[in-house]
Amino acid sequence: MKIAIFDTHRFERKYLEAAAKEYSFELTYFEVRLTEDTARLASGFSVICCFVNDCLNSTVLTSLHDLGVKLVALRSAGFNRVDLATAHQLDLKIVRVPEYSPYAVAEHAVAMILSLNRKIPQAHARVRDSNFTLDGLVGFDLNGKTVGIIGTGKIGLVFAKIMNGFGCRILAYDPIPNQKLQEKIDIRYVALPELFQNSDIISLHAPLTPHTRHMINKEAFGQMKKGVMLINTGRGALIETQALIAGLKSGQIGFAGLDVYEEEENVFFHDLSGQVLEDDLLARLLTFPNVLITSHQAFLTQEALRNIAVTTFKNVHEFEQNLPLTHEVMQS
Ligand code: NAI
Repeated sequence: MKIAIFDTHRFERKYLEAAAKEYSFELTYFEVRLTEDTARLASGFSVICCFVNDCLNSTVLTSLHDLGVKLVALRSAGFNRVDLATAHQLDLKIVRVPEYSPYAVAEHAVAMILSLNRKIPQAHARVRDSNFTLDGLVGFDLNGKTVGIIGTGKIGLVFAKIMNGFGCRILAYDPIPNQKLQEKIDIRYVALPELFQNSDIISLHAPLTPHTRHMINKEAFGQMKKGVMLINTGRGALIETQALIAGLKSGQIGFAGLDVYEEEENVFFHDLSGQVLEDDLLARLLTFPNVLITSHQAFLTQEALRNIAVTTFKNVHEFEQNLPLTHEVMQS
């Protein structure tokens, strides 16, 4: 079977090649993203494989359907960019990789906390410049601090365990609390306002849905402790960026660690060095010394890449063999 892989990156090819070998799938790589303009590249393929920022809106799905595509295999857990209603209407199957390494993402969130708190990027830049002073590098002990976790699914759970290990008190908010987690570690589920009011660090691990979009907005920032640290490895649009910038300017937000950004689609994963950054909000965020941005790389570990590739082609194999699709994304 021939599979078109959109938005391919060098870092993932060896994992894709290795996993595809098992089924003798023939891979055709397209470095471009899937968009309304590039959808025609899917001509001749019944299966295409997409990444987090590929566009799967109604127009693109209709084009894919007209070209004979039957299956879209997402190399991601998130499916917020897929118009599921249209996919369902067209009988275009969508499969995903629901879990590949919750450790990768949780550990990256922790890396952001430690980097921001202990000012590692600044310290590294200083010593490389032969400046061995310590003024301005004072951090705080994580031990004894309160960490608020929004979303205690697979990633939130691993994150909670790690932070518990640091000696942090954990407050959590999730519409479906994880009862087992409460038995295993020191965690207390509370309503969102209580979490906002009492947390020294808040980490977002909820999916992006119409309900969670901009859940961290001006009103939410207003309820948080002054100087709070906000970490987002979930999805950019969980946070209202304008409100975040206002909070950083006023000092209400003490630190922000962002692995995802509302308008990341045309920026993240691209080398734009030497070009003018056109996104004014991102440009403003990059000026704050207490903001750390990474380019949607929380998932980027060897283990995660291997698991993504293996599950993706297992998904395609199930489709090829007419087996039930274990990881089909259904319209809710
Ligand atoms: P999961 O599905 O295991 O857990 C999500 C949790 O969020 C569930 O417990 C759910 O009940 C909860 N939730 C739903 N609505 C909520 C709300 N309004 N408020 C609070 N919690 C709510 O998902 P998993 O694997 O833990 O991933 C979480 C998110 O992390 C994904 O949706 C994805 O957007 C993001 N992610 C980011 C990656 C990165 O590289 N930065 C990589 C993988 C996932």
